[in-house]
Amino acid sequence: MGDYTHKSQKMKSFKRTLITSALPYANGPVHIGHLAGVYVPADIYARYLRLKGEEVMFVGGSDEHGVPITIKARKEGVTPQDIVDRYHGIIKKSFEGLGISFDVYSRTTSKTHHQVAADYFKKLYEKGEFIEKTSMQYYDEEAQQFLADRYITGECPHCHAEGAYGDQCEKCGTSLQPTDLINPKSAISGSKPVMRETKHWYLPLDKHEAWLREWILENHKEWKTNVYGQCKSWLDLGLQPRAVSRDLNWGIPVPVEGAEGKVLYVWFDAPIGYISNTIDLCNEQPEKFGNWETWWKDESTRMIHFIGKDNIVFHCIVFPSMLKADGSYNLPDNVPANEFLNLEGNKISTSKNWAVWLHEFLEDMPGQQDVLRYVLTANAPETKDNDFTWKDYQTRNNSELVAIYGNFVNRALVLTHKYFEGKVPARGEMTDYDKETLAEFAKTIESIAANIDNFRFREAQREAMNLARIGNKYLADMEPWKLAKTDMERTATIMNIALQIAANLSIAFEPFLPFSSKKLRDMLHLGDIDWTMLGDFDLMATGAEIAQPELLFNKIEDDLINFQLQKLEEKKKANELAAFQPDPIKANTTFEEWEKNDIRVATVKACIKVPKADKLLQFTLDDGTGTDRTIVSGIAQSYPNPEELVGMQVLFIANFPPRKLKGVESQGMILSAVDADGKLVLVTPSKPVHAGVTVG
Ligand code: MF3
Ligand code: ZN
Repeated sequence: MGDYTHKSQKMKSFKRTLITSALPYANGPVHIGHLAGVYVPADIYARYLRLKGEEVMFVGGSDEHGVPITIKARKEGVTPQDIVDRYHGIIKKSFEGLGISFDVYSRTTSKTHHQVAADYFKKLYEKGEFIEKTSMQYYDEEAQQFLADRYITGECPHCHAEGAYGDQCEKCGTSLQPTDLINPKSAISGSKPVMRETKHWYLPLDKHEAWLREWILENHKEWKTNVYGQCKSWLDLGLQPRAVSRDLNWGIPVPVEGAEGKVLYVWFDAPIGYISNTIDLCNEQPEKFGNWETWWKDESTRMIHFIGKDNIVFHCIVFPSMLKADGSYNLPDNVPANEFLNLEGNKISTSKNWAVWLHEFLEDMPGQQDVLRYVLTANAPETKDNDFTWKDYQTRNNSELVAIYGNFVNRALVLTHKYFEGKVPARGEMTDYDKETLAEFAKTIESIAANIDNFRFREAQREAMNLARIGNKYLADMEPWKLAKTDMERTATIMNIALQIAANLSIAFEPFLPFSSKKLRDMLHLGDIDWTMLGDFDLMATGAEIAQPELLFNKIEDDLINFQLQKLEEKKKANELAAFQPDPIKANTTFEEWEKNDIRVATVKACIKVPKADKLLQFTLDDGTGTDRTIVSGIAQSYPNPEELVGMQVLFIANFPPRKLKGVESQGMILSAVDADGKLVLVTPSKPVHAGVTVG
């Protein structure tokens, strides 16, 4: 497969870095899982390199093809273009809101991208890099089109649930082939699909296996263990040819003859989006970014892909094989994929609406961008899945951002105003303790950089917070507010040092918390900054004026957190209701069978909780016989105040044999409806009737 140079074994002397971040699907907004996994770390990295004065390009964009987008459009009765226009807009705006500093944020429906992706395919096609295969696939004769796996539904062969999809049964979670389904139906026309022959192009990954093994397993042992491990298990299983085209009418038409009705597979076109977006940017800003090929083909450029763990195979195996097949591109230098973030202990799910959506966060919590960035980095799922909770969000804000960083900065600024009229006081002779403090500070700075260089953003941010801790401790130990009464000269030195530390913090936190860093720099009247200024304790010139202090962070009260928790629960519930599907109709019965049930009306005389049973209520019923009837019913959770049921009429089955429940004899069963959220609701006649009348 062409010659391969051991790039990673050469001395690492790159001149520029191309940072890509997975292109999010434009079939929904982005949520905190996407942010923690991909965009916040990518942004930290981009900001850090820029601050170091390196040449950087940070590429993002929306992934606007693929079957899920067409399904969503069909459901809503709009076009796929409508769907992607809507979500591309929301996504792009919300990324800006959080300060994700993309140099370009484009989309895969752009003209450039269609051209670039089609050309890419054509070149590989002409070089003979694909194989062609025909296979049998389901076809909808009424709609006259082939059916994507998701467009075929039927009975699950495992759990026999109806409505399983051609790729998965959502009831039992089993992965399926469309041909596994019992009684398959087309989701488009409802008709029974037939098997038809279809031709597709495949990238023969098996032929790439040898160099991939060497490139990853031998030459990239430094990759994160979760990434390396996943690659190894894929490679050890043996690679198979992968289809790069689909029978679908949404996407980039396959640019060869005889391919009518076929488009490029979304996972073929999407990573090429990184290239198209680079081209767009270089066309827009040629002075700044130069020629696009420098970013993709020049040996002195390195490429880093930020992705989530579900994208590893595409970025470490498939896309590199595509790049290699072309032959003129660089391969990625690193793919620091993250694991997943959970929310309040449960898996984030777009379909179940269990997520914190970025655009809603920005609206609900204005001015808290840095808090979210901080918490997502502090809990980043770098080595294992991790959990986001609102309680932790509050705690990290109140006891770290407010109590350490914010508190230190505020003290430094307030005391400068109090004792030195808001001007940086002159620094006199430093004590050993001062020098030790600054030495420890400088050492911690080194550690931030080393951690970012190794994609350990969580640890890097922890070290940045340690810098603030050093400052906080310094002021607490020196107590300038006491010294000011006796020794103004020493107070001046202490405050000078505190201000130098504050200035350093505004630089150290810039990659992580850009909004508050900017605010702090503005208060200090600190102009342009760069990473090399870190560790310089003469950033604040003696006599320079500083602005009136404003708080960098504000305490978050319980009500804000409770509001978010409640919102999550409500959405989950609304979603359960929306997803409700009635049970299938049972097999036929007869009037004679039905008549055997003796269903009657009774009036509730008393209703109490059954002790030591949180689900059970004990009803005392007037059933018209003159003797009270007791029935125990498992509906306590729907009726927390059972005394309110007294006087209500209910339906019950009178001819069930009595049975004991928690020591109480229950004489029959009370009828209730099971609502979509699983709650039980008592059934009652629409007008009062005599107790004891029959229902039929
Ligand atoms: N849209 C994909 C996802 O969200 C990611 C595409 S990354 C790209 O999982 F490289 F293909 F662009
Ligand atoms: Zn199933």
